[in-house]
Amino acid sequence: MSQILDYIEANKQRFLDELFELLRIPSVSADPQYKDAVFKTADAVKAALVKAGADKVEVCPTAGYPIVYGEKIIDAKLPTVLVYGHYDVQPADPLELWTSGPFEPVIKDGNIYARGSCDDKGQMYMHVKAFEYMMQTNSLPCNVKFMIEGEEEVGSNNLGIFVANNKERLKANVILISDTGIIANDIPSICVGLRGLTYLEVEVTGPNRDLHSGLYGGAVPNPINILCEMIAKLKDDNKHITIPGFYDDVEVISTEERAEMAKAPFSVDEYKKALDLKDIVGEEGYTTNERNSIRPTLDVNGIWGGYQGEGAKTVIASKAYAKISMRLVPYQKSDKTFEQFKAYFESIAPPSVKVKVTPHHGGEAAVTPTNTIAYKAAHKAMETTFGKKPIPVRSGGSIPIVSMFKAELGLDTVLLGFGLDSDAIHSPNEHYGVFNYFKGIETIPYFYQYYAEMSK
Ligand code: BES
Ligand code: MN
Ligand code: MN
Repeated sequence: MSQILDYIEANKQRFLDELFELLRIPSVSADPQYKDAVFKTADAVKAALVKAGADKVEVCPTAGYPIVYGEKIIDAKLPTVLVYGHYDVQPADPLELWTSGPFEPVIKDGNIYARGSCDDKGQMYMHVKAFEYMMQTNSLPCNVKFMIEGEEEVGSNNLGIFVANNKERLKANVILISDTGIIANDIPSICVGLRGLTYLEVEVTGPNRDLHSGLYGGAVPNPINILCEMIAKLKDDNKHITIPGFYDDVEVISTEERAEMAKAPFSVDEYKKALDLKDIVGEEGYTTNERNSIRPTLDVNGIWGGYQGEGAKTVIASKAYAKISMRLVPYQKSDKTFEQFKAYFESIAPPSVKVKVTPHHGGEAAVTPTNTIAYKAAHKAMETTFGKKPIPVRSGGSIPIVSMFKAELGLDTVLLGFGLDSDAIHSPNEHYGVFNYFKGIETIPYFYQYYAEMSK
């Protein structure tokens, strides 16, 4: 079946042009300013699915941004693959650090530069093009359903409702998602774990108004200083999180399993070099790869307050704020972790300030099984197209709907992603390799073929 390679070769430019059209629409779900663009992107995804040959394609409204659904049922007796992806993207800021416009896709050094090129428009679109190929060549070996959402980057708040209300329509045998990565272009891997998330915001209030920092400085609580002190108390010297009960439910991974995971190729030196770091920090007793996959974390994602304009203003702010994320591992619960954080944060606040802790969104961790037909099909598909066996790897990122699919639909997920850590997703200059884009389109039809064969 190197027919797929011929098909890609013959349609290369069009596959790129079509993706570029999608990348030009700034579907930033977090920023209401882009509302029209997000809706427009849903329509574009619908049009792409229709053109590729899907039936019953529909832009399904939700309380937020719509979910695009489409399907091709060729035979009710055959297994059904439910493809999930997202057409929304992260905000592009800081804009000045982009070397070309975030919504003006260009190819430089073999990479497609644009917000969403990797996460997730580029990876989602690989599925549309692989589907087009199977339709054009009459080789679709099982049923397929597409569910492409527009709120992944803001917590998928309405997807749960949609899934719960559409259980019949979404009936499938497996979920297939390309929204993760591989170790390197010559080291294929399959993501088998995602972390959960608790995202929240804190507000610390000192005096009832901003004050002259000379007249009052030294005699009143400065909420920014106090917020920093409180944040510093959230970890000890070993970078262990100090919130009481935080580690109670954390999955304990055996020494054997840790040894197995450590076999994945990794160089701390290259890691440091890629990030321009002289040294790295993290929880004592764990390797870098363990720290960013099987261990929970706490990170400040944003912190502000006081004067931030040009020059200097001598002022003690009335309020200070921070956005904080905690990445969770299996058996930790997002809601419980929020409550633990809130109780602890309130308990360490000095009596001189008021604190408010507000939840944003969250999700549970997921581990995908490797003993299923679907995983084996994905494994074989990657081995076919990369010429090497893929390595199972747990990732540190989160896709909260994976655990939800399991809970709501009872379905396992295969995370067949093709991105690289160096693709700068969520950062300025996000890019996606042209190699990876076409490799994805090449690999997906093999997944379908093997999955259908192994399901017989
Ligand atoms: N595609 C990413 C998650 C990801 C990337 C997982 C690479 C594994 C490898 C997804 O779009 C994402 O960014 N998720 C958010 C969570 C969401 C609730 C905002 C995240 O991980 O921060
Ligand atoms: Mn994504
Ligand atoms: Mn993302």
